[in-house]
Amino acid sequence: MKIGIIVFSKTNNTFSVAERLRVALAEKGLDVEIQRIVPENDDPGVKPPVVFTNKPDVSRYDVVIFASPVWAFSLAVVMKEYLEQVASLQGKRVFSFVTKQLASKFTGGTKANKQIKSAVAVKGGTVEKSFIVSWKNKKREAEIDSLIAEIIKAV
Ligand SMILES: Cc1cc2nc3c(=O)[nH]c(=O)nc-3n(C[C@H](O)[C@H](O)[C@H](O)COP(=O)(O)O)c2cc1C
Repeated sequence: MKIGIIVFSKTNNTFSVAERLRVALAEKGLDVEIQRIVPENDDPGVKPPVVFTNKPDVSRYDVVIFASPVWAFSLAVVMKEYLEQVASLQGKRVFSFVTKQLASKFTGGTKANKQIKSAVAVKGGTVEKSFIVSWKNKKREAEIDSLIAEIIKAV
Protein backbone atom coordinates (compact mmCIF):
# COMPACT_ATOMS: atom_id res chain seq x y z
CA MET A 1 0.00 0.00 0.00
CA LYS A 2 1.44 3.31 -1.09
CA ILE A 3 0.34 6.55 0.59
CA GLY A 4 0.69 9.98 -1.03
CA ILE A 5 0.29 13.21 0.90
CA ILE A 6 -0.50 15.81 -1.73
CA VAL A 7 0.01 19.24 -0.24
CA PHE A 8 -0.33 22.83 -1.29
CA SER A 9 1.22 25.24 1.20
CA LYS A 10 2.21 28.85 0.67
CA THR A 11 3.66 29.69 4.10
CA ASN A 12 4.44 26.13 5.22
CA ASN A 13 1.88 25.67 7.99
CA THR A 14 0.09 22.96 6.02
CA PHE A 15 3.39 21.50 4.87
CA SER A 16 4.65 21.23 8.46
CA VAL A 17 1.58 19.20 9.44
CA ALA A 18 1.99 17.04 6.33
CA GLU A 19 5.60 16.37 7.27
CA ARG A 20 4.66 15.34 10.83
CA LEU A 21 2.03 13.03 9.38
CA ARG A 22 4.57 11.57 6.94
CA VAL A 23 7.05 10.86 9.74
CA ALA A 24 4.37 9.27 11.91
CA LEU A 25 3.13 7.02 9.08
CA ALA A 26 6.70 6.07 8.14
CA GLU A 27 7.42 5.17 11.78
CA LYS A 28 4.56 2.70 11.53
CA GLY A 29 6.40 1.06 8.65
CA LEU A 30 4.07 2.46 5.98
CA ASP A 31 5.22 3.44 2.49
CA VAL A 32 4.48 7.17 2.40
CA GLU A 33 5.69 10.24 0.55
CA ILE A 34 4.80 13.90 0.26
CA GLN A 35 4.35 15.66 -3.04
CA ARG A 36 3.98 19.40 -3.19
CA ILE A 37 1.57 21.11 -5.55
CA VAL A 38 3.55 24.02 -7.01
CA PRO A 39 1.73 26.62 -9.09
CA GLU A 40 3.56 29.04 -11.34
CA ASN A 41 1.81 31.82 -9.42
CA ASP A 42 0.80 31.27 -5.78
CA ASP A 43 -0.71 34.71 -5.35
CA PRO A 44 -4.10 34.32 -3.61
CA GLY A 45 -5.60 36.52 -6.33
CA VAL A 46 -4.47 34.19 -9.13
CA LYS A 47 -7.17 33.69 -11.72
CA PRO A 48 -7.99 30.24 -13.14
CA PRO A 49 -6.80 28.36 -15.05
CA VAL A 50 -3.83 27.92 -12.71
CA VAL A 51 -0.66 26.64 -14.38
CA PHE A 52 1.42 24.19 -12.34
CA THR A 53 5.17 23.72 -12.29
CA ASN A 54 4.61 20.59 -10.19
CA LYS A 55 1.30 18.77 -10.54
CA PRO A 56 1.54 15.56 -8.47
CA ASP A 57 0.39 12.34 -10.12
CA VAL A 58 -1.96 10.44 -7.82
CA SER A 59 -2.19 7.30 -9.96
CA ARG A 60 0.65 5.58 -8.07
CA TYR A 61 -1.06 5.78 -4.66
CA ASP A 62 -3.60 3.53 -2.96
CA VAL A 63 -4.25 6.15 -0.28
CA VAL A 64 -4.27 9.86 -1.07
CA ILE A 65 -4.30 12.60 1.58
CA PHE A 66 -5.02 16.11 0.25
CA ALA A 67 -3.88 19.06 2.35
CA SER A 68 -4.41 22.77 1.75
CA PRO A 69 -4.81 26.11 3.48
CA VAL A 70 -8.12 27.96 3.73
CA TRP A 71 -8.18 31.19 1.76
CA ALA A 72 -11.01 33.69 2.03
CA PHE A 73 -13.34 31.30 3.88
CA SER A 74 -12.93 28.71 1.12
CA LEU A 75 -10.50 26.16 -0.24
CA ALA A 76 -7.33 27.86 -1.59
CA VAL A 77 -7.91 28.43 -5.28
CA VAL A 78 -4.65 26.63 -6.12
CA MET A 79 -5.92 23.39 -4.54
CA LYS A 80 -9.37 23.86 -6.07
CA GLU A 81 -7.80 24.12 -9.52
CA TYR A 82 -5.42 21.22 -8.89
CA LEU A 83 -8.35 18.97 -7.96
CA GLU A 84 -10.13 19.93 -11.17
CA GLN A 85 -7.09 18.83 -13.14
CA VAL A 86 -6.20 15.70 -11.16
CA ALA A 87 -6.57 12.18 -12.62
CA SER A 88 -9.17 9.62 -11.53
CA LEU A 89 -9.46 8.81 -7.84
CA GLN A 90 -11.60 5.74 -8.43
CA GLY A 91 -10.75 2.89 -6.08
CA LYS A 92 -8.47 4.98 -3.87
CA ARG A 93 -8.88 5.75 -0.20
CA VAL A 94 -8.92 9.50 0.30
CA PHE A 95 -8.49 11.76 3.34
CA SER A 96 -8.13 15.52 3.63
CA PHE A 97 -7.07 18.22 6.03
CA VAL A 98 -6.98 21.98 5.85
CA THR A 99 -5.19 24.55 7.97
CA LYS A 100 -6.48 28.00 8.73
CA GLN A 101 -5.63 30.89 11.01
CA LEU A 102 -8.76 31.46 13.04
CA ALA A 103 -9.88 29.10 15.78
CA SER A 104 -13.54 30.14 15.67
CA LYS A 105 -16.15 28.24 13.68
CA PHE A 106 -17.42 29.42 10.31
CA THR A 107 -14.01 30.66 9.20
CA GLY A 108 -13.77 28.42 6.19
CA GLY A 109 -12.44 25.06 7.40
CA THR A 110 -15.65 23.07 7.02
CA LYS A 111 -16.43 24.69 3.68
CA ALA A 112 -12.92 24.00 2.35
CA ASN A 113 -13.12 20.32 3.33
CA LYS A 114 -16.56 20.11 1.68
CA GLN A 115 -15.09 21.58 -1.49
CA ILE A 116 -12.38 18.90 -1.44
CA LYS A 117 -15.06 16.23 -0.88
CA SER A 118 -17.11 17.43 -3.88
CA ALA A 119 -14.05 17.71 -6.14
CA VAL A 120 -12.91 14.21 -5.13
CA ALA A 121 -16.39 12.85 -5.84
CA VAL A 122 -16.22 14.29 -9.37
CA LYS A 123 -13.08 12.16 -9.84
CA GLY A 124 -14.81 9.02 -8.59
CA GLY A 125 -13.41 9.01 -5.05
CA THR A 126 -14.83 9.39 -1.55
CA VAL A 127 -13.19 11.32 1.27
CA GLU A 128 -13.35 9.02 4.29
CA LYS A 129 -12.34 11.56 6.91
CA SER A 130 -11.38 15.21 6.93
CA PHE A 131 -9.71 17.38 9.52
CA ILE A 132 -9.15 21.04 10.36
CA VAL A 133 -6.11 22.55 12.09
CA SER A 134 -6.53 26.11 13.37
CA TRP A 135 -3.16 27.78 13.70
CA LYS A 136 -4.21 30.29 16.36
CA ASN A 137 -6.05 27.68 18.40
CA LYS A 138 -4.55 26.93 21.82
CA LYS A 139 -5.43 23.33 21.05
CA ARG A 140 -3.50 23.28 17.78
CA GLU A 141 -1.06 20.60 18.90
CA ALA A 142 -3.94 18.43 20.06
CA GLU A 143 -5.67 18.93 16.70
CA ILE A 144 -2.53 17.83 14.87
CA ASP A 145 -1.95 14.84 17.16
CA SER A 146 -5.56 13.75 16.76
CA LEU A 147 -5.44 14.07 12.94
CA ILE A 148 -2.30 11.93 12.85
CA ALA A 149 -3.75 9.32 15.23
CA GLU A 150 -7.03 9.09 13.28
CA ILE A 151 -5.31 8.64 9.94
CA ILE A 152 -2.94 6.01 11.36
CA LYS A 153 -5.94 4.18 12.81
CA ALA A 154 -7.80 4.32 9.48
CA VAL A 155 -5.08 3.19 7.06
C1 LIG B 1 -5.22 35.02 0.98
C2 LIG B 1 -5.42 34.36 2.31
C3 LIG B 1 -6.71 34.20 2.79
C4 LIG B 1 -6.92 33.58 4.04
N1 LIG B 1 -8.20 33.41 4.48
C5 LIG B 1 -8.42 32.79 5.68
C6 LIG B 1 -9.76 32.54 6.15
O1 LIG B 1 -10.75 32.84 5.48
N2 LIG B 1 -9.91 31.94 7.36
C7 LIG B 1 -8.85 31.57 8.14
O2 LIG B 1 -9.05 31.05 9.24
N3 LIG B 1 -7.56 31.77 7.71
C8 LIG B 1 -7.33 32.35 6.50
N4 LIG B 1 -6.04 32.54 6.04
C9 LIG B 1 -4.93 32.02 6.86
C10 LIG B 1 -4.39 30.68 6.32
O3 LIG B 1 -5.44 29.78 6.03
C11 LIG B 1 -3.49 30.02 7.36
O4 LIG B 1 -2.47 30.88 7.76
C12 LIG B 1 -2.93 28.70 6.83
O5 LIG B 1 -2.45 27.91 7.90
C13 LIG B 1 -1.81 28.95 5.83
O6 LIG B 1 -1.34 27.72 5.33
P1 LIG B 1 0.08 27.56 4.60
O7 LIG B 1 1.12 28.12 5.56
O8 LIG B 1 0.20 26.12 4.40
O9 LIG B 1 0.02 28.37 3.34
C14 LIG B 1 -5.81 33.15 4.81
C15 LIG B 1 -4.51 33.31 4.30
C16 LIG B 1 -4.31 33.91 3.07
C17 LIG B 1 -2.91 34.06 2.53
